[in-house]
Amino acid sequence: MMRMDNIIFIGFMGSGKSTIARNLAIRSDRIFLDSDLLIEAKFNQNITEIFKNKGEEFFREQEQKLADFFSSCNNACIASGGGFIQVKNLEKIGFCIYLKASFEYLKKRLNEDEIAKRPLFYDEIKAKKLYNERIKSYEDKADIIIDIENKSIDILMDELKKAIK
Ligand code: S3P
Repeated sequence: MMRMDNIIFIGFMGSGKSTIARNLAIRSDRIFLDSDLLIEAKFNQNITEIFKNKGEEFFREQEQKLADFFSSCNNACIASGGGFIQVKNLEKIGFCIYLKASFEYLKKRLNEDEIAKRPLFYDEIKAKKLYNERIKSYEDKADIIIDIENKSIDILMDELKKAIK
């Protein structure tokens, strides 16, 4: 049975998952959860530090623990990290929305500070490769796909409201 009360956003780095999930949480009166923020809060370290001190595999294990927890939640609007789609049982969490954009568009949106927060975006060639490797998984795992390019947050909120009601 598909869970429709939680909404989870997936997509590559820079696609606006956190901003959009937070806005939708406010507008639809849901709880806002963000996988990256929860992991950072737990260890009191930012993502770059966690990758450096504990390694990516450790970070992925933390994402799996959150995925298991999210499946037991109700009425939440969830922002996931770009690699969260690798968790087991993603489909048990809720209605899954892929925020889609081209690599070039995402790259343009991320400034230096935003890139510094993302260890897997430092190297642009590797980031592009990762994007190409993941694109099919994002599409396969999504219940719906929203193209975010050149759309304001208000336009996106209108689209989302129509899509989830
Ligand atoms: C990652 C994306 C990041 C963060 C971590 C790894 C990825 O989240 O979880 O740096 O593997 O794509 P954002 O998509 O919020 O940048």
